[in-house]
Amino acid sequence: MNILIINGPNLNLIGKREPEIYGSETYSELLHFIDQLSKEWGFTYKIVQTNHEGAIIDFLHEAINQYQGIVINPGAYTHYSYAIYDAIKAINIPTVEVHLSDISRREPFRATSVIAPACVAQFYGEHFKSYYRAIQYLLEVTNV
Ligand code: DQA
Repeated sequence: MNILIINGPNLNLIGKREPEIYGSETYSELLHFIDQLSKEWGFTYKIVQTNHEGAIIDFLHEAINQYQGIVINPGAYTHYSYAIYDAIKAINIPTVEVHLSDISRREPFRATSVIAPACVAQFYGEHFKSYYRAIQYLLEVTNV
C-alpha cells in the first residue's frame, strides 16, 4: 500500500509551537516516526507539509492513481475548509483525518471538523500515536 500523508499549516513548527498542547517532539521526529513505521509494517509512503490551502488541494488531486490511502492533518483548515472537504470527496481515496491534540476538548471552534464527513475515520489527541492509528486503520480496515 502506498500512502500519502499530508500535514497542513503550522505543523512544521511542532516541538516549538505550544508544546503543552502539541508535544515537545519536532517535525523531523515525526518524519522519523513514520519512517520507522513504514519499515515495521511494510508500506510505502510520501509525506508532505504545506502552509497553503491550495497546495493541500493540489496534493489531494495528484494522489489519484498513485496512492491507495491518505492521512491528512489539515491543521486549522480542518475547522472551515469546505474546499478540502470537496477535494477529498472528489478523489475517492480512503482518507483518514488526524490531529496531535484533542480537538474535542479545546476551544469550541476546534470541536467541529468540516472535513470529517468526507473521511473514513478520525484519530486525535494522541500526538504521534494519532498517525500510528490512522495508518493502522488504512492497512487493516480499508480493504485497498
Ligand atoms: C491540529 C489541531 C488544529 O485545531 C490546529 O489548528 C492545528 C493542529 C492538531 O494536530 O492537533 O494546527 O490539527
